[in-house]
Amino acid sequence: MTALALQTDPKPPAARLLHLSDLHFWRVILNPLHLLNKRFIGNANVALHRRRELLTQQAPAVLDYIASLGVRDVVLTGDFTSTAVAPEFELAREFLCDLVRRGMAPVVIPGNHDVYTFESVRHRRFEKFLGEWLPAKQLPATRPLAGGFPVVYVPTVCPNLLSSMGRIRSAEIEALCAKLAAASGPLLVAGHYPLLNQTYGYVLKPGRRLRGAEALAAALRDYRNPLLYFSGHVHRFSFVCDPISPRLSHLTTGALFRRDHSAGHTAEFSEICYGRAGFEVLRHRLASAWNVSEETPRPAVAQKSIPTKLP
Ligand SMILES: [Fe+2]
Ligand SMILES: [Fe+2]
Repeated sequence: MTALALQTDPKPPAARLLHLSDLHFWRVILNPLHLLNKRFIGNANVALHRRRELLTQQAPAVLDYIASLGVRDVVLTGDFTSTAVAPEFELAREFLCDLVRRGMAPVVIPGNHDVYTFESVRHRRFEKFLGEWLPAKQLPATRPLAGGFPVVYVPTVCPNLLSSMGRIRSAEIEALCAKLAAASGPLLVAGHYPLLNQTYGYVLKPGRRLRGAEALAAALRDYRNPLLYFSGHVHRFSFVCDPISPRLSHLTTGALFRRDHSAGHTAEFSEICYGRAGFEVLRHRLASAWNVSEETPRPAVAQKSIPTKLP
């Protein structure tokens, strides 16, 4: 890693995107009628942990910094909310509207917390509040960035009774494979769930993994050019080479407003510089001031028990 001075060697705006994830706006719910499902657990988690760990009150200052970078494209890979209630979605929508007011073009996909209960999915709450920034009505979908560089967005979330597992179906993998077959050159692919169960940055417990991750990873490994898969969900930064394909690398970006006591920062996001030659990743972190580090992909660690069955 190399420490960079802020905004030295600026790259053309069309060759950069910002990756934000896991904003987790939260509201403690007091109405017992709204707690008659899995939300009871999520609400307790908000009350006990998230309000101290996820400092969403930093949103205006973080927005100011993001806007100062002069990057048009901003990709947000889900978990805008904590328990998928309307007041949390209103806060997320306000954040996205602020990005737009400052000249940025956000693209969003949902995280598992945005489809936290079956009730929230039935009411299509994510689509109602944030649907205008989805890349398409149905995923997987390809949407080019400014300058035409392609990003493929994959569907990885579903509601669960108790677990935090994700899901990608075989038909969705097939649709992705068709898109990969039609693509050429370096490619970006975005999802909410990471595909590796363990890196130097995180360990993904079985109840928080993606069903179908192995099949999705296999499809990406077959792509013949450099491919960066970027995601969130684990709330930790990591940038690693794929353990099998030398063309594939995996980026997870830490939760935007997360306070990291050991590292001493209170917010973070990634900047991806892309082009015909491949990808570079910069990590922006807020401690006493914002600082930027240039990251290089590290070797993958041995993977244990990746789920093998497609749903
Ligand atoms: Fe998540
Ligand atoms: Fe999250």
